[in-house]
Amino acid sequence: MTDLLSISDLSVTVRTPAGPLHAVRGVDLAVGRGETLCLVGESGCGKSMTALSLMDLLPGTARRSVGRFTFAGRDVPARGHGSIAALRGDRLAMIFQEPMTALNPTFRIGDQLIAVYRTHRRAPVAEARDRAVALLERVGISNAAIRLRQYPHEMSGGLRQRVMIAMALMCQPDLIIADEPTTALDVTIQAQILKLLKDLQADFGMGLVLITHDLGVVSRIADRVAVMYAGRVVEAGPAATVLGRPRHPYTQGLLDAVPRPGVHRPGERLGTIPGTVPSLIGGVTGCAFRDRCRRSVPACATTDPALAAVDGSAAVACVNPVPADAERAA
Ligand SMILES: Nc1ncnc2c1ncn2[C@@H]1O[C@H](COP(=O)(O)OP(=O)(O)OP(=O)(O)O)[C@@H](O)[C@H]1O
Ligand SMILES: [Mg+2]
Repeated sequence: MTDLLSISDLSVTVRTPAGPLHAVRGVDLAVGRGETLCLVGESGCGKSMTALSLMDLLPGTARRSVGRFTFAGRDVPARGHGSIAALRGDRLAMIFQEPMTALNPTFRIGDQLIAVYRTHRRAPVAEARDRAVALLERVGISNAAIRLRQYPHEMSGGLRQRVMIAMALMCQPDLIIADEPTTALDVTIQAQILKLLKDLQADFGMGLVLITHDLGVVSRIADRVAVMYAGRVVEAGPAATVLGRPRHPYTQGLLDAVPRPGVHRPGERLGTIPGTVPSLIGGVTGCAFRDRCRRSVPACATTDPALAAVDGSAAVACVNPVPADAERAA
């Protein structure tokens, strides 16, 4: 599959009072048209910083450096025509965890949807309004024409998230980046929103980068998975391979912490990963996971291995990966 978006050697450094914090350290990512890439990993491992840097929306204290960055087969310049700032909202859109970060509380949602469209297309207001109504209906909002006149605070969290998805779709983007789009919602609404995203993706043939903590979600919707730890991708590949036969001890630890029906009995203790993510301020020598790792060997203190293909499909960054034929811990 040709890549829709691809980025190599992405690093993000944040200025902090204690020194530079290396939030993202040499990440390569690619997503194809119609493909869902899930980005997973513990809190603080750099998922949001990665997403924000793809959208050129990093906070002012953060600096990004990239090797190669292409979108739809073209190099993405830092500014001007074809830059992320020019593509954002049009060919690239982002959905956040908290809809109120994207929706302006002081404007009616109709005006906001229409403004997004007219910023990128020279279209009459009536055309933009028709599209807004059609998309609100498509994302499951009834009485769309009436809803257009409402303010965000007049809607429930689930409805606001649907509005934000409609807003992301206004210009029919090629790629959507969704950062924990359902974490703030209750479980039944979460499932509905994820199904909606998946259906929309199939209808419109978009690429989707979905950031989530929830490996259950990943197993249901990902085509490919990238597992992040301490600012690096430690394992990446087809979802079935990464989830079914994890090779990085960190991926294995994450999976062992998820209950599996038929394997775990109710009330049984699940696996945990001891310790916490190390500080990313200053330099990191060796593998950042070694102090928490069951499989660490002396070389882990000095080598921070690059992501390398194993068995031809998944790629893993580990000097002592889990053997391919390992039994999964129950
Ligand atoms: N505005 C900021 N200023 C300073 N440090 C930040 C800022 N935002 C994030 N960081 C730090 O950057 C690192 C990566 O954070 P990031 O938000 O990308 O993690 P994440 O994987 O998205 O976590 P979560 O799952 O909690 O959303 C963390 O160490 C975090 O503390
Ligand atoms: Mg985050």
